[in-house]
Amino acid sequence: MNVTFRIKRFDPEKDARPHWQEFKIEAGPMDRVLDVLNELKWEQDGSISYRRSCAHGICGSDAMVINGVNRLACKVLVKDLGNEIAVEPLRGLPVLKDLIVDMEPFFDAYKAVLPYFINDDPAPVAERYQSVEDRERFDATTKCILCAACTTSCPVFWTNGRYLGPAAIVNAHRFIFDSRDQGADQRLQTLNQVNGLWRCRTAYNCTEACPRGIPITQAIEEVKRELLWRRN
Ligand code: SF4
Ligand code: F3S
Ligand code: FES
Repeated sequence: MNVTFRIKRFDPEKDARPHWQEFKIEAGPMDRVLDVLNELKWEQDGSISYRRSCAHGICGSDAMVINGVNRLACKVLVKDLGNEIAVEPLRGLPVLKDLIVDMEPFFDAYKAVLPYFINDDPAPVAERYQSVEDRERFDATTKCILCAACTTSCPVFWTNGRYLGPAAIVNAHRFIFDSRDQGADQRLQTLNQVNGLWRCRTAYNCTEACPRGIPITQAIEEVKRELLWRRN
């Protein structure tokens, strides 16, 4: 199929503001948006800049806005989009070049919720046992690949870049509900601050954007309830 492929370009060394560049390309039935970007970069314009690594929906590095929706370029087939495709950088984060955004603010929020296992008890001889039911409690939120599609689809984050955002809350959830972990109070204290989880207005954009199918809004509600329960 013949495709008109538009890329929002921005080179901070040359451009005062972003602009669209249009390419005509022939795509095969199994081509994904990432394949088209690769072909354009390798065959037509080596200066096109974007992140990618695994090409199989695992590393989370190629999240971008595709025809207005946050998606992973390696998981979207061209044939499912039609003959007109437009790709833009994620919204709400500073654009460094073309489709590459500065992920520092995103990872700062992630780090703020202590996204690692905390337990000061002496290490057991074998593993720390956990029942199947207790493991199930946070199974969904273990699946995050830190692609930022959720946080950059959130209207609250667009207007307030200091909002910790859904990805940080998802990763807090993963440990708060882990029966072996002891750091929940610290994480909840951070999430209870002015730019924490009470900023969420239940917009659901994050849940719709997540390429891993994580029920993000539900996870946020669960953390809110846990915080209220612990304070009473
Ligand atoms: Fe990406 Fe989903 Fe993780 Fe958000 S929760 S960073 S959309 S994988
Ligand atoms: Fe934003 Fe998701 Fe809440 S889109 S407002 S974090 S439900
Ligand atoms: Fe790794 Fe798409 S390149 S998720």
